[in-house]
Amino acid sequence: MENLELEQVCGKAEEELNAVDDLNALQQLKANYLGKKGFVATIMANLKDLTIEKRKELGMKSNQVKQALEARFEAKRKAIENKIVQAKLATETIDVTLPGVKFNVGAIHPLQKTIMDLEDLYISMGYTVAEGPEIETDEYCFEKLNLPKGHPARDMQDTFYINPELLLRSQTSPVQVRTMLQESGKPIKIICPGKVYRRDADDATHSHQFMQCEGLVLGKDVTLADLKGALLEMARMMFGKERNIRLRPSFFPFTEPSVEVDVSCSRCGGKGCSMCKNTGWIEILGAGMVNNNVLRMCGYNPDKIQGYAFGIGVERVTMLKYHIDDIRNFYLNDIRFLNQFKEVK
Ligand code: PHE
Repeated sequence: MENLELEQVCGKAEEELNAVDDLNALQQLKANYLGKKGFVATIMANLKDLTIEKRKELGMKSNQVKQALEARFEAKRKAIENKIVQAKLATETIDVTLPGVKFNVGAIHPLQKTIMDLEDLYISMGYTVAEGPEIETDEYCFEKLNLPKGHPARDMQDTFYINPELLLRSQTSPVQVRTMLQESGKPIKIICPGKVYRRDADDATHSHQFMQCEGLVLGKDVTLADLKGALLEMARMMFGKERNIRLRPSFFPFTEPSVEVDVSCSRCGGKGCSMCKNTGWIEILGAGMVNNNVLRMCGYNPDKIQGYAFGIGVERVTMLKYHIDDIRNFYLNDIRFLNQFKEVK
């Protein structure tokens, strides 16, 4: 009778184990069979009422059944856990053949691109990059550049004054002054890119804030021919290897002689078109040999050292290079405008 019960326990357990497929149910089932009040424990508790022989025999069998059941439950637990892991792996599989997610990358702003190109070019020619403040003194922005107070040429640049001595710089030329005063008599080879401000009404070709890239080279026997070489390289880097430049006489208070520099038109190659107003040439910058007065005021002896300065209009050359017809586009930052420069290398 007891024997049979024990065998029945095994059969029933096997049947119920087959039906279980989650860990909670398994736990419950295990308690029914192997727990303190489970089938096996109950059988074992009843042994005390049997004869010694029967108790021995049934006790041994009960232990065997208990061990066998423990092994079966353990195996079933592992099987269920394995099934869970496999299901998880199946849902988390990575399909390595799927195309990647496209990141929405930005583009370098065209003005920044021009400045980077200019810096690369001039650094390769031995220049260093210098910077100066945007709030300047009247002394550095004008007086030391041979433009004393009341000089008529001040009208060329309508300036934002903060007070009679302080202003928003209207050109990057004061960085020349600062560098000369600092180097006091030593040779100089710098470019200074930066923002400048003028009291201009904004329109397609004017902006109250724009950018210049100034150049200054001082040394023994630096000539106008060196200046032409430095600018020709720049024009060819910006507008193509076939470009030429020409120098036209002009006037700036801080240079003597002064020149305005034209580049041969990149659209018509010099034949004449609407972009160059049928002249074949487009004006791109002002330049000249540093005026002796400026050299003296900034601590240089013009008999020993001389050189040239140039001022590139960053917007101007960028507009010409990328055929942009309104300067305001640079500052509106319309994403449709900026996106066009994604491919520009
Ligand atoms: N600073 C001048 C301007 O803004 C340009 C320039 C720079 C001319 C250096 C000559 C030499 O008009």
